[in-house]
Amino acid sequence: MEKRRILVTSALPYANGAIHLGHLVEYIQTDIWVRFQRMQGHEVHYVCADDTHGTPVMLRAEQEGITAEALIARMHEEHRRDFSGFHVEFDNYYSTHSPENRELSYEFYRRLDAAGLIEKRAIEQYFDPVKNMFLPDRFIKGECPRCHAKDQYGDACEACGTTYSPTDLVNPYSAISGATPVRRQSEHFFFKLGKCTEFLKRWTRSPGTLQTEAANKLDEWFRAGLADWDISRDAPYFGFEIPGAPGKYFYVWLDAPVGYFASFRNLCEERGIDFESFTDAVKSKDHNTEMIHFIGKDILYFHALFWPAMLDSAKFRTPNHIYAHGFLTVNGEKMSKSRGTFITAESYLKQGLNPDWLRYYYAAKLNSTMEDIDLSFEDFIARVNSDLVGKFVNILSRASGFIVRHFDGQLLEPRPEAVGSSVEWAATFRAISAADEAKEAYEAREFGKGIRAVMRHADRINELFDAAKPWDLAKNSDPAARAQLHSVCSDCVTAFKILTYALAPILPVTALRVAKLLQLPVPLKWDHMDRFSSKISPYQHLMTRIDRKQIDALVEANRQSMQPTPAAHSPQRHAEHQIRVEEKVEIAPTIGIDDFGKVDLRVARIVNAEHVDGADKLLKLTLDLGGESRTVFAGIKSAYDPETLKGRLTVMVANLAPRKMKFGVSEGMVLAASGDGPGLFLLSLDSGAQPGMRIK
Ligand code: MSP
Ligand code: ZN
Repeated sequence: MEKRRILVTSALPYANGAIHLGHLVEYIQTDIWVRFQRMQGHEVHYVCADDTHGTPVMLRAEQEGITAEALIARMHEEHRRDFSGFHVEFDNYYSTHSPENRELSYEFYRRLDAAGLIEKRAIEQYFDPVKNMFLPDRFIKGECPRCHAKDQYGDACEACGTTYSPTDLVNPYSAISGATPVRRQSEHFFFKLGKCTEFLKRWTRSPGTLQTEAANKLDEWFRAGLADWDISRDAPYFGFEIPGAPGKYFYVWLDAPVGYFASFRNLCEERGIDFESFTDAVKSKDHNTEMIHFIGKDILYFHALFWPAMLDSAKFRTPNHIYAHGFLTVNGEKMSKSRGTFITAESYLKQGLNPDWLRYYYAAKLNSTMEDIDLSFEDFIARVNSDLVGKFVNILSRASGFIVRHFDGQLLEPRPEAVGSSVEWAATFRAISAADEAKEAYEAREFGKGIRAVMRHADRINELFDAAKPWDLAKNSDPAARAQLHSVCSDCVTAFKILTYALAPILPVTALRVAKLLQLPVPLKWDHMDRFSSKISPYQHLMTRIDRKQIDALVEANRQSMQPTPAAHSPQRHAEHQIRVEEKVEIAPTIGIDDFGKVDLRVARIVNAEHVDGADKLLKLTLDLGGESRTVFAGIKSAYDPETLKGRLTVMVANLAPRKMKFGVSEGMVLAASGDGPGLFLLSLDSGAQPGMRIK
């Protein structure tokens, strides 16, 4: 066998959020494939990192009142903890905010520039005059130009599905400050992707590089033509400043894939690996090394167009394969915070669920396509309990008892000529062929197929075991019966051992437990599966079944009331947000802090707003104070359409004595600004605030 030398990556998770079960599809998929290759004796370097740059990280750090560096350091620890909890074993888990990445990003940029692929030109974009920054598309909201749905993002309408550019929005507003954005010019740097079309077409069509579905997607993109790629962003931005261009930063997606190399370089230095033999265009060919990226289908554009174009133009090696997977749904639906199906990796482990269960389940569902995969709780419980525990673990728990009790833990070597053992010999022999099937399937990322081959055989072993009636044989002192018992149980244990090797990439922890009981040499090597091992230790519990209550508790722990969308401001407010010079109003007489403290101001979510029959100034508001609900009549009808108020956060006086009004009892007051002119302005909160929080 020729030893392969492979650099493998999983996509770099964003540093502004927790790892959830959706992410884990990818990291578990990659980890299984990597472990499998290692068991084959290949040299594999599996690297990953946090993707730390960009506007969302910057804004989140700001909201938390910490530096971006402090935020990404904390997330890094959390991500590491979550991955290791699921036994995803990176050789290096690094950060894109690293000296290696800065240096390599500059190197890429210099080489692309030298190749004439960087162009500068001014473009016009929306700018937030309050926050003093250019707004990324996702931070501009407004009315859909086509169906006029309100509060849509700057890139696409969630109501009618139209895509457009932010400048097409009707009544746009900044999702950060609520201000009406203004158009402003700024110079941007572009990567001339179109010039790489010929290379990209060739690369795409080289066999095995892309899955068929992915290659088809690329053909569509080629037909549409490859536009220049905007690789710069203006300050303020958390990222790498472009050399020689103060105030201009690399767009996060420029330095993110370079982060694969940065993480690898950092590893190379630590372990003395020759970095260039894996990354240089020429040397990688001489050394016959491979590079493989596992990604989700949502980031195909970046990995199958921008990244290979950057690599080829900068004289680095290009990827041998991009393996894209589909998205996770839970019980057939998109993961949802309100349903409790947006499940974090941390909560899964905290509830005491076994990570090998999820690894097994994902593997059983995974194949080499980009189809979405569904985590159905029913199916999850059924497969783990009846297949993994009921079929696989069951073999050892039943057979090993007889071996330990009656034969001092000594196994008989499978021999076709041994008394009565021809059937069982076939069982171990067929276990090898099941493992061979699994091997072929794993190589092709058809994990589900591999598991099916193994489980079919586990079924067969259980049948043989039952048919031999070992519990009857054990009562019989006749030497032939004893020999039969010894040989049946030995063969079942030996077949089980082989299946354990075949499942080891998927169930690393369980496999290690088995290795201990069966006294197998670790790390487990695929080639060792048919080596006879003669002695076993008394059975110890390998794995429990899932209790449905554990899943219910997991869902409860992840259920969240509706999260505030980043500062949901009503467009109404911005239509009237013309800067006016107000008449100066006298400031009221001074009060002490105690006086102020008597007013209990709270964050409230407007869950409902409606017109009141017969009232020409009032709206009836239903407010959520974090569990407690209040009805308030507010004189804001002239300024707000009730529809636009639903869901937004505002400020209320929570301890105002209830007041009986003509239309009902008002249980508090919302606050709004007003001047002499027309217009009323409700208070808003920065994103992150939660209903019920006290304002002081
Ligand atoms: N930071 C980028 C990747 C940069 S790679 C140079 C990113 N980060 S992410 O955190 O949003 O996603 C990381 C990986 O997890 C991606 O490959 C993404 O497709 C995958 N998944 C995120 N949510 C997922 C599901 N719900 N289901 C399956 N995979 C998902 O993209
Ligand atoms: Zn629309």
